[in-house]
Amino acid sequence: MKRIFLGVTGASGAPYASAALRALTAAGCDVGLCVSRSGAHVISHEILRAGRDAPADPDAVVREFVARSTEHPHRVTILGLQDLTAPFASGSSLAPAALICPCSGSSLAAIAHGTAQNLIHRCADVMLKERRTLVLMTRETPLSIIHIENMAAVTRAGAIVMPAMPGWYNHPERVEDLVDFMVGKALDHLGVENRLLARWGDDPEVRVPDVPPADLGSTE
Ligand SMILES: Cc1cc2nc3c(=O)[nH]c(=O)nc-3n(C[C@H](O)[C@H](O)[C@H](O)COP(=O)(O)O)c2cc1C
Repeated sequence: MKRIFLGVTGASGAPYASAALRALTAAGCDVGLCVSRSGAHVISHEILRAGRDAPADPDAVVREFVARSTEHPHRVTILGLQDLTAPFASGSSLAPAALICPCSGSSLAAIAHGTAQNLIHRCADVMLKERRTLVLMTRETPLSIIHIENMAAVTRAGAIVMPAMPGWYNHPERVEDLVDFMVGKALDHLGVENRLLARWGDDPEVRVPDVPPADLGSTE
């Protein structure tokens, strides 16, 4: 069974987090879930449709998020944002991979600069220093040079920056298809088998164009 850390921060796109939790637990992963205060706010607004105000009880929001997202809640351990005693806070624990989904510009900055003030940032820090897999599903648009430079910094450190930018080439019919496209790509990078997205070339509807190989230049 694979242990995966799922950090949820306060960028728009809580349905990506919900689909990721569903898919990871369905794949049999043991998920350590940590939600920032802003992450709980966005979940409350976007998934629970509880209004624009910050929730009075963010922990209740996280519990409800788990209940709505997965049929395997026993595979989810909810971790406190400031619980720096959690195993994921240490390189000596062998969690192989972490996904921050969605990842706010604020958390991206904290990870890029190694400030590690909460468990999400610390776990990301650990993944980078231990050369393990860290996927950041960022969501912001447009990007300032600050976002771009922070993305470059974490990429140089070994993270995979995966902006929430679903493709249309699989002919999505529902919003869920777009969400699954992104989550499937993230799980691919985490090394978790999934069938969330159609693979280019597998679907008879989706034909690889019959084009000659690119001309890479001739030495003759
Ligand atoms: C409804 C809502 C949507 C937001 N969407 C985004 C977003 O898409 N991207 C982003 O970087 N910040 C967004 N923010 C702002 C972040 O939540 C804010 O910067 C926060 O400090 C992030 O903290 P965190 O990274 O600890 O979760 C949003 C805030 C709210 C309330």
